[in-house]
Amino acid sequence: MSISLSNTTVTMNRYVDGKPVTDTEKLQVFRLDNETMTYAMAVTQEGYLLHVYYGARCGEDDLTYLLRLSDSPYTPRILKREKGTFMDARPFEFPCHGIGDYREPCFMIMDEDGMSACDLRFVASRVEKGKPALRQKGVSCIPATFAGEEDADTLVLVMEDAHAGLTVELTYTIFKKLSVLTRSARVINHGEADVRLQRVLSACVDFEDSAYDMITLNGSWARERLLERAPLHHGKQSVDSVKGESSHQSNPFVALVSHNANEEIGEAFGFNLVYSGNFFAQAEVTQHKHTRFVMGINPYDFSWLLRTEEEFTAPEVVMVYSGSGIGKMSRTFHDLYRNHLIRGEWKDKQRPILINNWEATYFQFDTEKLIEIAKQASELGVEMFVLDDGWFGHRDSDNSSLGDWFVYEKKLKGGLPYLVSEVNKLGMKFGIWFEPEMISPDSKLYAEHPEWAIQIIGREMTQSREQYVLDYSNVEVRDYVYKMMRDILDSANIEYIKWDMNRQLTEVGSTSLPRKRQRELWHRYVLGVYDLMNRLTTDYPYLLLENCSGGGARFDPAMLYFSPQIWTSDDTDAIERLKIQYGTSLCYPASAMGAHVSDCPNHVLGRTTPFATRGNVALVGTFGYELDVTRIPQEDREAIPGQIAKFHRFNPLMRKGDQYRLGNLFEDNSFDAWMFVSKDKTEALFTFVQVLGRPNYPSRNIKLRGLAPNKRYRVEETGQVATGKTLMEAGIFVSLYGDFASQTLYLSEVTGE
Ligand code: DGJ
Repeated sequence: MSISLSNTTVTMNRYVDGKPVTDTEKLQVFRLDNETMTYAMAVTQEGYLLHVYYGARCGEDDLTYLLRLSDSPYTPRILKREKGTFMDARPFEFPCHGIGDYREPCFMIMDEDGMSACDLRFVASRVEKGKPALRQKGVSCIPATFAGEEDADTLVLVMEDAHAGLTVELTYTIFKKLSVLTRSARVINHGEADVRLQRVLSACVDFEDSAYDMITLNGSWARERLLERAPLHHGKQSVDSVKGESSHQSNPFVALVSHNANEEIGEAFGFNLVYSGNFFAQAEVTQHKHTRFVMGINPYDFSWLLRTEEEFTAPEVVMVYSGSGIGKMSRTFHDLYRNHLIRGEWKDKQRPILINNWEATYFQFDTEKLIEIAKQASELGVEMFVLDDGWFGHRDSDNSSLGDWFVYEKKLKGGLPYLVSEVNKLGMKFGIWFEPEMISPDSKLYAEHPEWAIQIIGREMTQSREQYVLDYSNVEVRDYVYKMMRDILDSANIEYIKWDMNRQLTEVGSTSLPRKRQRELWHRYVLGVYDLMNRLTTDYPYLLLENCSGGGARFDPAMLYFSPQIWTSDDTDAIERLKIQYGTSLCYPASAMGAHVSDCPNHVLGRTTPFATRGNVALVGTFGYELDVTRIPQEDREAIPGQIAKFHRFNPLMRKGDQYRLGNLFEDNSFDAWMFVSKDKTEALFTFVQVLGRPNYPSRNIKLRGLAPNKRYRVEETGQVATGKTLMEAGIFVSLYGDFASQTLYLSEVTGE
């Protein structure tokens, strides 16, 4: 792996006033290489930072010919070139608004004179070993991937807008063993005047052509992260969120893939923003059929006042390159996130199998009922009991008490200490639900501090699920909520928190921010959430934190920085989950996906599926139960110990192994299949789910993936022995009877026979 800096001279032959002229231009070149990828940039004599190349590892050649510097009909002479034309045709690393590049910019300001143009020129560079943490004065924590000196190198390019007095540091980290580059930008006001940042995106890549499909993950509540793939076309195609969270509807993930790309072949460029608020990601096919891809905080309704010596840091974009298909791109994301994003005591550990009372009781429970569920679950092998919504204030439905984080004693007789100790006596851990960012109009907190809700004074406040959002830009609010949470956490042996967030932001105004900083609230809110999560995970390092947002509305890398697992979706129907978990796996590891077996008919959909299939689908993720174990059919109850044993046996393989998607319900909705293969390729677990049965010739041939071609494997369930090559080239047959039926097959290497 290397970061190299060099100088080169480009010769340009062109015609000026009809006569041939030869010019030369000196360029400074920056190159980041590892075994699989190369990323190259160049600085022109005027200080423009141009993008040269991003893709498969290249030879040690001068790549600046790719800039085609003489290739512009309206370019007269070097340094007197037709700047407007130059700006609109060249590939830029961090394009500025207002100086002739009419494509989507990364950077736009408003200066004291009301001017919005800006012009960043290169001034210096530095190389650092490892990966520095993202920082911003006054901000306690900015989530990002991390790496030691042995794993990554970082290049910082310092740009300057002399007119506005701004410095922008562009940071590029290349990972040694993973095909990963991360980028972010930090703006510092060294000038004397205030500047308003109107947009600071995190990264831009100007691709040489537009022959790509764009893959995005879109959906809705109970249908999160469903994959869509479409060829790029002229103009702009984007995904974003303006809801204050990464959202059910879009995910801050985009992949640009070659038209021929599938799981195994073709190029894939994956982009994922480490951010939990309003984001923006866009591919723009330009007049020259180049593609500009940009990603960062959504500029929509964003404005940030930067006074002298203040700084602003844009979140990190993770960029993954794969020359071996979409599957390899996903596995690279998984390895990166498992090793260089997720932190804490639970990072590499098997998570406790939990039972959550939400779908079992909703708000209708008391201590006795909860203990009854916990008792029966513990007898079947469940390891943790999670008390969901409804234990605090006077909450009997979703219309009150958010913000009143003290125990609803009438409902929970004996309070938490009693309940938790009873659960612990059963040999189970205890976990609890909070929704710390919210406030109900019907709460003590709102009666005392109505000004703590996000609002625009004088305007009607929109209620959603009969609740408002707390102003997390205000540290007083965060301190107060955190104190209540601490009191609860310190009152009993609580080892897990489900941190929920059930509504989007409206009337975005703060009673504590000055007028000039109101538009900062969207981002300050997110930074406030990070601050509290950071405090919580620092003060209670043993806590297992599971994120949730009305299901999976905040399934993003920034949340993974704080919580090793996220509730994937409120849709627990095994068949719907196939698509949701498939889409989620595009960039997020299975080890992070909250997945539970629930009762049937399914509470979202009304569908009934076999208990075994519900188990096989949930097995992929963190695994648990979301049902009233005291009421489910006896045969389902009897199946639980077997499912639990299966989880114990195979979770290490799935948590740490490589995932291969073998089916694709978005293309063929009759079945799904996937595999997890251990890193040393000695074992694998194959899962097949038959969505629709096939009459009259029911068996299907599935080609396995990821095995070692020359190793021989035994399929435990059938006794078949074959080489990896055969299993991957000729496939195996699966034959099941009935809709929604499923099967797992365990393969292990045969040695010494
Ligand atoms: C939404 C979550 O996704 C559910 O699992 C549950 O915790 C409810 N909120 C509780 O209100």
